[in-house]
Amino acid sequence: MATLRTQVGIIGAGPAGLTLAHLLHLQGIESVVLERQSREHVETRVRAGVLEQGTVDILIGSGVGERLQREGLQHQGVELRFDGRGHRIDFQDLVGKSITVYAQQEVVKDLISARIGYHAPLLFEAEAMQIEDFDAQPRIRYQHKGASHEIACDFIAGCDGFHGICRPAIPVAALKIHERHFPFAWLGILARVAPASDELIYTYHERGFALLSMRSPEISRLYLQCDPEEDISNWSDDRVWGELRTRMATREGFLLKDGPILQKGITPMRSFVAEPMQIGKLFLLGDAAHIVPPTGAKGLNLAVADVRVLARGLVELYKNKGREALQQYGERCLRRVWKVQRFSSWMTSMLHRFHGEDGFSHNIHLAELDYVTSSRAAATTLAENYVGLPFDTPGLF
Ligand code: FAD
Ligand code: PHB
Repeated sequence: MATLRTQVGIIGAGPAGLTLAHLLHLQGIESVVLERQSREHVETRVRAGVLEQGTVDILIGSGVGERLQREGLQHQGVELRFDGRGHRIDFQDLVGKSITVYAQQEVVKDLISARIGYHAPLLFEAEAMQIEDFDAQPRIRYQHKGASHEIACDFIAGCDGFHGICRPAIPVAALKIHERHFPFAWLGILARVAPASDELIYTYHERGFALLSMRSPEISRLYLQCDPEEDISNWSDDRVWGELRTRMATREGFLLKDGPILQKGITPMRSFVAEPMQIGKLFLLGDAAHIVPPTGAKGLNLAVADVRVLARGLVELYKNKGREALQQYGERCLRRVWKVQRFSSWMTSMLHRFHGEDGFSHNIHLAELDYVTSSRAAATTLAENYVGLPFDTPGLF
């Protein structure tokens, strides 16, 4: 069995693993990235689409933001729609910041292309099977092209998502799991039709939540709250468009044109946090450590925020500036993680219908939305969290 030696062994080529590998490369730190799927698979996986200003700054600052700047759609606000009316939350006016709509798989493509461009190791269809001795001399055993291989490294970055192997490798007694399942899911579609609005529309309706988002001037991305046990085959294209129109209807008239549906899927919703995010020389990043319900559009942004902290800690260590930042990795990340969990849960509860809600609960939803859209202080809170809270520790960019 061949053994490869590197400084940081990175498991997973999602946004977390690829961004970490890129930032480390720029600082002269070597890494090997292992990804169990093919390049095509990760480059076409439809997932998140909203980038916070801080995420955009890191991508541009590290030299992978050229296409993002050209093709990303900068939005200055979002609409909250309820009771037949739309109300705009103006980010620029309230907090002087904006968000950028640019698909996760485009970020992934840009990072892969950069890494391949400078010939740094990134192995597709390479599945990490086991991690060993992460207290002392970490090793990763993986399968590639039908053979077993091993990586010996100084540190392991577990960027392998929610279903990866790194979190389960931590002894149960050392791990605390905080979890909440929501009693609903999102049915998401990607459709070839011009978005019916220039900005995202989050809708609360008696029949459930709906969201209008987009990927480009020609492609819309839309979501509907549904039952987590829902069978996607019960949702014909006509039914999806009909339900979206019902939930998003406004009194002043709103035209949601349909078009060919290119992709359709159901995503369960959960909140999840694993503590600690580091043990010995193993670090967990992104979905491997935490999951947020998508209503706050935070999953990808939180993964990049973890990377920012770890990259800084590793750079300080390798440049002999001390190990304090690295030792505080988990603690520093978790402060942001819990604030983002709070915001995502709040957005989710405010905008979704729960089973068996009565008229009282319905009116509480409406009153909360009315408050958020009519009080400048409340709207500022939403805007400040949505565009991304300021980082409270220094980064590299
Ligand atoms: P991932 O993107 O999951 O990357 C992990 C990578 O590790 C994967 O490529 C995986 O193949 C690889 N891997 C796993 N195990 C191994 C192994 N043993 N060996 C090698 N490689 C391995 N967020 C939003 O904000 N809005 C959304 O609409 C939204 N939709 C989503 C839809 C789905 C179906 C999912 C799963 C997530 C969605 N998210 C959304 C969340 C967001 O996409 C994630 O937070 C983000 O992808 C986290 O990035 P990551 O790099 O931590 O993990
Ligand atoms: C998306 O465009 O996929 C999207 C936008 C906002 C969200 C979640 C997903 O809150």
